[in-house]
Amino acid sequence: MASAQQLIGLVKSHAEGDEDRFYDLAMQLAAAEAQKGHTRLAEQLRSWAEAGQSPPQRPAAKTTPLVAPRGDLAGLLSASYPKTRVVDLIVSGHMDDELRHIVAETRMTDALEAKGLRPRRRLLLSGPPGTGKTMSASALAGELKFPLFTVLLHGLITKYMGETAQKLRLVFDAVRSTRGVYLFDEIDALAATRGGEADVGEARRILNSFLQFLDEDTGPSIIVATTNLPQILDRAILRRFDLVLSYELPDDQAIETAMRRRLKAFDVTNIDWPRVSQLAYGLSTADVIAASEDAARRAVLEQSERIETKSLSTSLERRRSLQGIGGDAHGTGSQAPDPKRNRRRPTLPAKDGGKFKAAK
Ligand SMILES: Nc1ncnc2c1ncn2[C@@H]1O[C@H](COP(=O)(O)OP(=O)(O)OP(=O)(O)O)[C@@H](O)[C@H]1O
Ligand SMILES: [Mg+2]
Repeated sequence: MASAQQLIGLVKSHAEGDEDRFYDLAMQLAAAEAQKGHTRLAEQLRSWAEAGQSPPQRPAAKTTPLVAPRGDLAGLLSASYPKTRVVDLIVSGHMDDELRHIVAETRMTDALEAKGLRPRRRLLLSGPPGTGKTMSASALAGELKFPLFTVLLHGLITKYMGETAQKLRLVFDAVRSTRGVYLFDEIDALAATRGGEADVGEARRILNSFLQFLDEDTGPSIIVATTNLPQILDRAILRRFDLVLSYELPDDQAIETAMRRRLKAFDVTNIDWPRVSQLAYGLSTADVIAASEDAARRAVLEQSERIETKSLSTSLERRRSLQGIGGDAHGTGSQAPDPKRNRRRPTLPAKDGGKFKAAK
């Protein structure tokens, strides 16, 4: 049952015409009921909340904190209700298609099952930091209006193998009983050497028990695992997943799209995009966005509505040195590169439309 506070909040927000607050509270109640296994009630609450508000009115890319998972699960899962959508992602057309297909398959579960098929539910996203892996899990949850449960790996991994396996079982019980997108972020932590050679075997066993749980059907939830380390992707791991997507550093077109989106409140007509893209080579989408924000802040302080190539270049250089990628446009600077980074030059967009989606 909802607490008195929640009921007061619901009635008050309705009386005050605060639709966003009403929607958020109703969604929180739905997630709380779902966690207690009251899935029908949760579905009803969700559909009533949605009926009362059309999607464009909701603020984009905002995450609503939920009632936290209780009991033994409290230290293992953190829940949120992301509003991120697939359209917010700047990814290749292929990745965009795959993510949308996963959403469509989940929506059509009944039709698929009627023909003896199952929607794909186990996703592995690999690639360098800051390229949109975690954001993609949020976008899947946002599209499906599922809660996003992030598995807290540090809460999961303990000194004692038996205990860790027990905790993993709890998480996978929740995967079965409470529909959602379950994010195992940076699963390399499960395979990593912890505290020396003696731990290698143990960490590997933890990873293996994770993979065994994956072998069981994960329905009705979607499981997303992410990693920065392609070397952990051996065949035994890959075969457990229904879909493996490799994220890459942004190419010229993706860099421009990310910057234009972030700078849409400014005049960017003077920007030399080929030059800026060249300077952004080797940086992640997250870095490119951060550099745009840096240039934007400086423009505001200078009371300017316009962003110039020079200012973006300076911000990009600052970002590069922060990341230890070196000071020249080709990433050959003297500082040691981060071994986790994918240093490959991204493919340039094809002339006929390009590899990356255009800004919406
Ligand atoms: N492909 C992308 N499209 C749009 N925004 C992006 C993309 N990649 C990164 N960003 C921006 O950078 C932020 C960080 O990205 P995200 O956390 O998804 O990276 P990640 O690939 O999970 O990195 P890590 O491996 O370090 O966890 C996002 O919240 C978003 O603002
Ligand atoms: Mg991440």
